[in-house]
Amino acid sequence: KKPPARKGSMADVPKEFLEKIAELEKEFSVSTEQLKAITKHFISELDKGLSKQGGNIPMIPTWVVDYPTGKESGDYLAIDLGGTNLRVVLVKLGGDRTFDTTQSKYKLPSALRTTKNPDELFGFIADSLKSFVDEQFPEGVSAALPLGFTFSFPASQTKINQGILQRWTKGFDIPNVEGHDVVELLQKQLKTRNIPIEVVALVNDTTGTLVASLYTDGETKMGVIFGTGVNGAYYEQVSDISKLEGKLADDIPSSFPMAINCEYGSFDNENAVLPRTKYDLQIDAESPRPNQQAYEKMSSGYYLGEVIRLVLVDYHKQGLIFKDQDVTKLNTPYIMDTSFPARVEEDPFENLENTDELLQKELGINATVQERKLIRRLCELVGLRAARLGVCAISAICQKRGYEAGHIAADGSVFKLYPGFQENAAEALRDIYGWTPAKKEDYPITIIAAEDGSGVGAAVIAALTQKRLAAGKS
Ligand code: GLC
Repeated sequence: KKPPARKGSMADVPKEFLEKIAELEKEFSVSTEQLKAITKHFISELDKGLSKQGGNIPMIPTWVVDYPTGKESGDYLAIDLGGTNLRVVLVKLGGDRTFDTTQSKYKLPSALRTTKNPDELFGFIADSLKSFVDEQFPEGVSAALPLGFTFSFPASQTKINQGILQRWTKGFDIPNVEGHDVVELLQKQLKTRNIPIEVVALVNDTTGTLVASLYTDGETKMGVIFGTGVNGAYYEQVSDISKLEGKLADDIPSSFPMAINCEYGSFDNENAVLPRTKYDLQIDAESPRPNQQAYEKMSSGYYLGEVIRLVLVDYHKQGLIFKDQDVTKLNTPYIMDTSFPARVEEDPFENLENTDELLQKELGINATVQERKLIRRLCELVGLRAARLGVCAISAICQKRGYEAGHIAADGSVFKLYPGFQENAAEALRDIYGWTPAKKEDYPITIIAAEDGSGVGAAVIAALTQKRLAAGKS
């Protein structure tokens, strides 16, 4: 969706606002030169992540060592725990690049993000799975159902059906899970409830996206998520993953490809290249995990609304906006999710009436037309910055791997729903490369909507895993 052009004039906007807008434009814009410098640094950080000594970007080997052929078939369960929902999917792979899915979504109670008891989270997943299985298989099942578990957090894997959580991201903060195998934690809850399911593969959402899209489209080079978090996966040649040296079973020769879950949300934790504003620094300092996920905190959906909120709180404190208004709600951290700026950017009216309604409804604030115009510009800048910064990871990986053309399969709420995001991302990539075609569809590297990674992708990976096991490989 392209945001409607701003029809309203800025003529009635007071000078003090125009000055602030100019400041915001300076702080939040990312020039092409900056994009190129960020890409360059990104490439060296990706390499560091693959090396024995490691770096800030985890570059997690996924043990997905096959490309799907499109011939994978069978029935698989898949679950996706990522942002706001838990999704349970029954995937029937057709074996001819086709599939059928049946799914249910279970709203993740927001308190579960920070519950003190991990059994509550994994118990919730097990309960949801139970109701899904009871519904789909009323007559029961004869053998344990194979499940692909999409767990969209950094988890270290020494084999495919295991994942040790390195650290929570995206505002999750539950004790006693970091450092533990989440497959075991889930399997324990399934066992207590006597649910006949076996987790055969643990998959990151990016890896799932990569594999699901390759199942249907051989031109796929990367799977990326622009959602609550940002991250990407691609295939690396095993011989180039130097940290795996000496850790490989014989059946994985160094000529094999292996999918890497980059976890590049942590790019630039060392604060070398990203143009962070004081608001970004504040988000970081007040987050449950400061000094982590620097890149994600500037570009993902979980933080977009929060940056905007912090700017508004600052301007209110300076006495510039919302004079004599009750700002109690505005002062609540994370009260504005990404749908807030998305709706502001979608507002087609000259006087931004929809924005007015939104501010009243969500924050109990009556904003003047001029204030609304300031907010609109702020949202545009923050949305544009997310897209421009967001593609640096793509250009870095493509340059590193020598991909000059191909498809980048993208998923996530920001990619799918944020107005203008897809255009802004394509243009930023064009800026970095200096491409000339007029239409984004004609750029050599195109970012396209992915296949359902966490459902189909997890199922295909589960199928690939079972095939390897059946063939007696590790
Ligand atoms: C966060 C997670 C990562 C996930 C991404 C998108 O960055 O750490 O695992 O892929 O969000 O959901």
